[in-house]
Amino acid sequence: MSLAPRLAVALDFGNRDDAVRNAAALHDHVDVAKVGLELFISAGPSLIEELVDAGWEVFLDLKLHDIPATVAGAVRSAGRLGVEFMTLHTAGGRSMMEAAVAARVNGTPRLLGVTLLTSLGSEQIREVGYQGGTDESVARLANLAHEAGCDGVVSSPHEAATIKAVHGEDFLVVCPGIRPAGASIDDQARVATASDAIKAGADILVVGRPIIKASDPAAAAEEIRSEMEHAYDQRS
Ligand code: C5P
Repeated sequence: MSLAPRLAVALDFGNRDDAVRNAAALHDHVDVAKVGLELFISAGPSLIEELVDAGWEVFLDLKLHDIPATVAGAVRSAGRLGVEFMTLHTAGGRSMMEAAVAARVNGTPRLLGVTLLTSLGSEQIREVGYQGGTDESVARLANLAHEAGCDGVVSSPHEAATIKAVHGEDFLVVCPGIRPAGASIDDQARVATASDAIKAGADILVVGRPIIKASDPAAAAEEIRSEMEHAYDQRS
């Protein structure tokens, strides 16, 4: 049986103080703290160390996409900071992902290949040059990430079930684009509820605005978590 799915909060804040205050308020309600571009550029590596020291499993979501040597160096630096999960774009290619995989120490950080951003709808996916449908492109990129030795992929919940069926339980599927039914989708396009994402086999759900912009973020996280638990009971 698979491990119980986990909830990662996207700490999409523009400064260290807001991030640390919100992380502390969410510590008992979510499993993983995700630091993305906005926060990392503003608060830097010391914030990562602070979160690790506070007991967080840190997901550094910088979506690396560069030449293999540069990406490998970034993975080594992240490993030294104690990062647990890190993202890189599968579109960076096989050699880039293989170099990143080889740069891990004792398998850390675990590397997640971003397939197609959940903010892209089918028209924009075609516009950037992907041939075929969304599902086909995501399947091809997930396959490439698997072959290169990545620990999993980031995809929309819509593609999670197929990726799990093809690559098996141990290949992590991480899903952003999670929205409660009827909520604003903001700039996302390929969204689903937490319940549907879990039923599709997702291992980690990434949720930002539905938690951090809620009037009571801890309560919003608990609501999502109970939806996840209910769906997981039905899945297992
Ligand atoms: O606020 P929201 O729940 O839309 O935030 C989703 C988070 O997941 C953001 O931090 C975003 O950068 C990240 N993400 C994403 N799509 C991906 C990979 C990461 O939305 N494919």
